[in-house]
Amino acid sequence: MKSISTITLGLSALITVSMISCNDQKKAENMDVKKGITKASFGNADGKEVFLYTLTNDKGDQVKISTYGGVVTSWVAPDKSGNRSSIVLGFDSLSGYLAKPPYFGALIGRYGNRIARGKFKIDGFEYTLATNDGPNHLHGGNKGFDKVVWESSVANDSIPSLSLSYLSKDGEEGYPGNLQVNVKYTLTDEDELKIEYSATTDKPTVLNLTNHSYFNLTGDVANTILNQRLQIDADNYTPVDSTLIPTGQIVSVKGTPFDFTTAEKIGARIDSVKGGYDHNFVLNSKGGSLQKVATLSDDGSGRELQVFTTEPGLQFYTGNFLDGTIKTSDGKAINKNTALCLETQHFPNSPNQPSFPSTLLSPGQTFHSETVYKLSVTK
Ligand code: BGC
Repeated sequence: MKSISTITLGLSALITVSMISCNDQKKAENMDVKKGITKASFGNADGKEVFLYTLTNDKGDQVKISTYGGVVTSWVAPDKSGNRSSIVLGFDSLSGYLAKPPYFGALIGRYGNRIARGKFKIDGFEYTLATNDGPNHLHGGNKGFDKVVWESSVANDSIPSLSLSYLSKDGEEGYPGNLQVNVKYTLTDEDELKIEYSATTDKPTVLNLTNHSYFNLTGDVANTILNQRLQIDADNYTPVDSTLIPTGQIVSVKGTPFDFTTAEKIGARIDSVKGGYDHNFVLNSKGGSLQKVATLSDDGSGRELQVFTTEPGLQFYTGNFLDGTIKTSDGKAINKNTALCLETQHFPNSPNQPSFPSTLLSPGQTFHSETVYKLSVTK
């Protein structure tokens, strides 16, 4: 891959990188890793050049982000023995993404998760969206924000951060209003991947932005996520119908397999959840301010991932529809339950559920949201 520009920020670190990752398996090699951002060509889509940015912090940990779909393609960090591997599913070439994997690492919009029968009303006017998931609309439709090329610019401050922007035109995928969306990714020296979203519109519209990274803290899809432990600060969740649309009820997790208020092995009760976990948790924090809402941990690698968000909900999805047909760049089958998503969001189908927190955005308002994934390792 040809590096076409490099912005380095201060520190540099000489580290040994063993890339035994979800998407890349290489022998350990010595690499001179500098804090900062590099930009490289990643191919072409929609007649536009796509770039792959690499954000490196002062520990030498790296996050790669593609301007196609705003996808986090890898997040490489060490385990407790110092072996580096990617903790997210991804591909090392654009072709993997053009083949439409199920939203690996992507920015999701305009509406993350489902809208029942692809219909909603604003001020009495009914809008009709694509039904691309059985009878329902999912993750923005046929060509959501995960499948468009974002404009990019690099914030030249003391920590590597990448700004992405996209203008979603009035009527795109059936949604009203010209929506200007900005997303800023930052990798801190504390191994936090910070994602800041903002948006404005010129007509009332609905909006639910998230990132769809699939995590496996072991860094290897040969392992399922069933032995990893999860804690979610949610006393309630939103049960769903057979098409995964919330019934509208908000139900206590107490005494159910959805009780993750204390850390539990993901596999401990998954067999009593039909199909596996694919549910929105109603966060006790209620949204608004940035608060810690979940912790995922893996004893084997010593890695831990904390999730902080300003959003009121968290979609916990255990990769139930992964079935081995998609392979990593190095040919490993991506099977059921080999990765999980912790998608910070508003609740699915909110435009049709007046009792859920509102997802309406009106002209003159600016939508703001922030999510931080913080990785650490215990030796
Ligand atoms: C949804 C799943 C869906 C997955 C990938 C998740 O956010 O909740 O139902 O299959 O995304 O498409």
